[in-house]
Amino acid sequence: MTIASFAFEHDLERVAHRDAFNRSRRHAAWENVIKKRPSILRIRDIDSILNTIDGLPAPLTDADFAPVNESEARLGQLLFYDPILSGNRAVSCGTCHHPAFGTGDGLSLGLGDGGQGLGERRVADPQNMPEQRIPRNAPALFNLGAHEFTVLFHDGRIEVDPDRPGGLRTPLDADMVAGFASLLSAQTMFPVLSADEMAGHYSENDVSQAVRRGVLTGEGGAWDIIARRVADIPEYANGFAATYDHINTPDQIGFADISNAIAAFMEFEWRSDTAPFDAHLRGHDVLQEPAATGLALFYGEAGCAACHSGPFMTDHDFHAMGAPQIGPGKAARFESHARDEGRYRVTGDAADLYAFRTPSLRNVALTAPYGHAGAHSDLRAFVVAHLDPAASLATYDIAAATLPDLSVDDAKGLEDIAAIAAAVTIEPVQISDEQVTALIAFLDTLTDPAALVGRLGIPQSVPSGLPVDRLR
Ligand code: HEC
Ligand code: HEC
Repeated sequence: MTIASFAFEHDLERVAHRDAFNRSRRHAAWENVIKKRPSILRIRDIDSILNTIDGLPAPLTDADFAPVNESEARLGQLLFYDPILSGNRAVSCGTCHHPAFGTGDGLSLGLGDGGQGLGERRVADPQNMPEQRIPRNAPALFNLGAHEFTVLFHDGRIEVDPDRPGGLRTPLDADMVAGFASLLSAQTMFPVLSADEMAGHYSENDVSQAVRRGVLTGEGGAWDIIARRVADIPEYANGFAATYDHINTPDQIGFADISNAIAAFMEFEWRSDTAPFDAHLRGHDVLQEPAATGLALFYGEAGCAACHSGPFMTDHDFHAMGAPQIGPGKAARFESHARDEGRYRVTGDAADLYAFRTPSLRNVALTAPYGHAGAHSDLRAFVVAHLDPAASLATYDIAAATLPDLSVDDAKGLEDIAAIAAAVTIEPVQISDEQVTALIAFLDTLTDPAALVGRLGIPQSVPSGLPVDRLR
């Protein structure tokens, strides 16, 4: 947790108060459940059940999430799936964050501009060959409208920081960070500028030309070019005028407005707090075996909750967990290594070498592949490696990844194994195969059917008339 986000003692007090309240409510609810279904006492006695519950997070409520304006979310839905935001009009946010793949792309490392198709069927377009793979795994987008999410990206390079102008810390100049309603909204500035993700290369199009010249803000800048494309489409112009009080005419639509609408969509669409685990937290239902044993392991012996804590199973902090490094890494243009030093790239503090953000585990069964570089396509294989990261690195085989064909050296990052293993600080955890099975069964209870379907879904068509990414 960043200091900024937890700066107010008042908030801490409120949280403590709410937790105590929830605990007594939860105990009462559980005693009821146990009365109705005494069979669960055959598994564990009441005290041990209640003790486990005390270690559990409080159930989520509306107060944990930013309120969403539905008209804004509807506008954002169209923009999220509209390739008009990409330089070559071929890649939308939904290309890499698709509901069919748990809001990821189903690939270890995806292909943005220059790719065609979705998931494992995504291939490089020979007419517009991608230069490299996207260096990190596309994360899932669940619950990003919760107040708790104040740090984004695998290395946390954008975060809420009240001491900065605009209230955000990002790798971009402070004066670029104006007008965004939230951190989630500001995030959109990045993929649209990235040549490999959405902008495209060299002089291919107006956006990539502006990016190449370094002209981002102001009239004729990359963000303005994208905003003008959107504003020129009457359905969008009307939608923005109807949604925002400060917009009457198309020329008043700015990139931050587009971005705010997309953020509202993501917040509304993928809130996820109705999984079986949530029913358990609310005392509405009890987990069955082996998930119940998995829960006890997660919050007990296996030590998972030390980092995967809170209602979203993340401490929003950074840890070196020895996940294998594959793909191009995060080398600068003039460097030739394929390392990704994670949080260290942001802080420059050696203690952060190879540390990555603890991901939320909501719907994790459906967000494969796993790890910041997606080196494991299989959940069980990832968890087994995660229990003893240093030892597992030595036997890692890149065949465990899911990569579309591209003639590049994907295994170069593995040369760095010794350094990655050396950065790991946790002790290996030894549990049986049966216990791993229980842990996975518990992770399955984080799957929330309502969030996977989404509230608005994928639109039939988008206002630009460009094709919408869907599985055929
Ligand atoms: C080519 C694939 C690709 C496209 C297109 C893309 N993203 Fe992403 N997205 C990623 C990857 C990869 C990351 C992780 C980057 C990192 O951590 O360095 C990411 C990260 C994010 C995050 C941060 C999530 C978190 O938990 O940290 C959000 C939010 C997001 N993308 C939303 C969007 C939106 C909105 C768009 C469209 C404007 C978009 N993405 C377009 C691949 C993509
Ligand atoms: C010391 C902190 C820590 C502990 C303990 C820990 N994790 Fe993690 N976990 C992380 C971090 C950090 C990552 C991301 C690593 C990366 O991408 O390089 C992660 C990634 C994961 C992922 C992959 C999620 C994704 O979307 O890629 C799963 C699944 C997971 N952990 C489950 C578990 C389970 C189950 C346990 C207990 C056996 C556990 N973790 C213990 C910190 C921890």
